[in-house]
Amino acid sequence: MDITFLLNGETVALKGVSPTTTLLDWLREDRHLTGTKEGCNEGDCGACTVMVTDDSGSRALNGCILFLPQVNGTHVTTVEGLAAPDGKLHPAQQAMIDHHGSQCGFCTPGFVVSMATAHLNGATDHDTQLSGNLCRCTGYAPIIRAAEATASQPVPSHLLHLSSTIPGESPPATGAGPHSPVQPGSADALAAWYAQNPDATLIAGATDVGLWVTKQFRPLGPVAFLNRCADLNGVTVTQDALRIGAMTTLTEVETAIAPYHPSFAAMIRRYGSVQVRNAATIGGNIANGSPIGDSPPALIALNARLHLRHGDSRRSIPLEDFFIAYGKQDRAPGEFVEAITVPRQPDSLRCYKLSKRFDQDISAVCGCISLTREGGSITGARIAFGGMAGTPKRAAAAEAALTGQPFTEDSFRAAMTALQRDFEPLSDMRASAAYRMQSAQNMLLRYFHDLSGTATNVLEVTP
Ligand SMILES: Cc1cc2nc3c(=O)[nH]c(=O)nc-3n(C[C@H](O)[C@H](O)[C@H](O)COP(=O)(O)OP(=O)(O)OC[C@H]3O[C@@H](n4cnc5c(N)ncnc54)[C@H](O)[C@@H]3O)c2cc1C
Ligand code: FES
Ligand code: FES
Repeated sequence: MDITFLLNGETVALKGVSPTTTLLDWLREDRHLTGTKEGCNEGDCGACTVMVTDDSGSRALNGCILFLPQVNGTHVTTVEGLAAPDGKLHPAQQAMIDHHGSQCGFCTPGFVVSMATAHLNGATDHDTQLSGNLCRCTGYAPIIRAAEATASQPVPSHLLHLSSTIPGESPPATGAGPHSPVQPGSADALAAWYAQNPDATLIAGATDVGLWVTKQFRPLGPVAFLNRCADLNGVTVTQDALRIGAMTTLTEVETAIAPYHPSFAAMIRRYGSVQVRNAATIGGNIANGSPIGDSPPALIALNARLHLRHGDSRRSIPLEDFFIAYGKQDRAPGEFVEAITVPRQPDSLRCYKLSKRFDQDISAVCGCISLTREGGSITGARIAFGGMAGTPKRAAAAEAALTGQPFTEDSFRAAMTALQRDFEPLSDMRASAAYRMQSAQNMLLRYFHDLSGTATNVLEVTP
């Protein structure tokens, strides 16, 4: 593929790049920019963090699971590009020295790029901003002190106007030949190409697909990058619904959903890390059919609909019907996810994510509950769980046990018993079957206490 982007202020034009070369490999092996490190090569440690700027702003991304065509038309800043042209260190670099934030130094470039990106964006929730960066020797207190010290310094002038340096409307990446990788510029172009190439792999944020390449060494065959389909991106709010384009990142969903369903937004805050949420898309989180993806249970509890497209024909289905069985979804070859709509409704949603680690961990169980009430009675219940079956799934027996009942602890205890008829969870490395069932039942009780005014906090810890 042929792509063009800016790297630390210099234009890079590459011809004939393999679509599955990661930015990290290219930086280190072709450019010998070895400041960007390889730790895990799967999005977990942040050693490979780079800053990517486009016309929507600057964000931290993991270079190890970012394919070169995904940076086409952007400005990439690596750790080598943080210091000023006269050699003066970036405030984050200086603060890491001043506050003893580095020992072996392996994680340090990733940390300073995350810090510099947060600094540029004015973000001061340092624990969140750095949750995707792991350090195994220094300890986090000096690093957080360095981030706090950075926040009081001005943004260096050479980083202030990065998006204005991107040259005009750079064209989508191109390739030659019938099975060449493509980067369609619109949903229409994608639909036409995918209908003709139904066996192709679609690449959205690559937070799953990246690992197929870096961990499983899987050949992908023909691929289409969706990141230049601007009309698949963004959230539109109407009187009736929120329409979320398939390419909307989890970071964008978090911001857009917060005013309507704050518990959903709070749960997304625990989805992966900043770097992962900046790449992962809502369409990818649904289309991958994972039984432990975090957004499907919340969206099912909100009665969301999925909009699918094949060529020029479109259909929409309740999201819950998309997940047929483990590894099997209601999606035909050549069909792709165009959007998700969430009907506007009074908010009674609570989302409970249970994972071994607070940040950057896949759920063992994710329970999302939304009830409607009139007077003291429960008039409707939508309860969906991830991690309890081969698909994200509604808890029909628990819903039936609650519907028509008074909003009391006894009703919820009856629903907890009924939940045993809904699921036969598995034991695996994340949790045993018994633990999964017990914690899912407890989520029902927690919902009762939560809506009864007993203070609970989905973030579990308060600063
Ligand atoms: C470090 C790390 C932490 C993670 N933490 C979490 C977590 O806490 N919670 C969680 O739920 N997930 C987590 N994930 C998993 C991952 O982020 C999600 O599944 C993600 O939403 C996938 O989206 P993507 O855009 O990156 O998809 P991609 O990797 O690009 O694609 C995933 C699959 O969906 C297909 N696809 C993508 N878009 C479309 C479309 N529009 N139509 C049809 N098919 C499409 C692709 O072909 C592929 O099969 C984590 C991943 C990593 C690497
Ligand atoms: S090398 Fe660990 S996140 Fe990229
Ligand atoms: S300083 Fe050694 S891993 Fe962080």
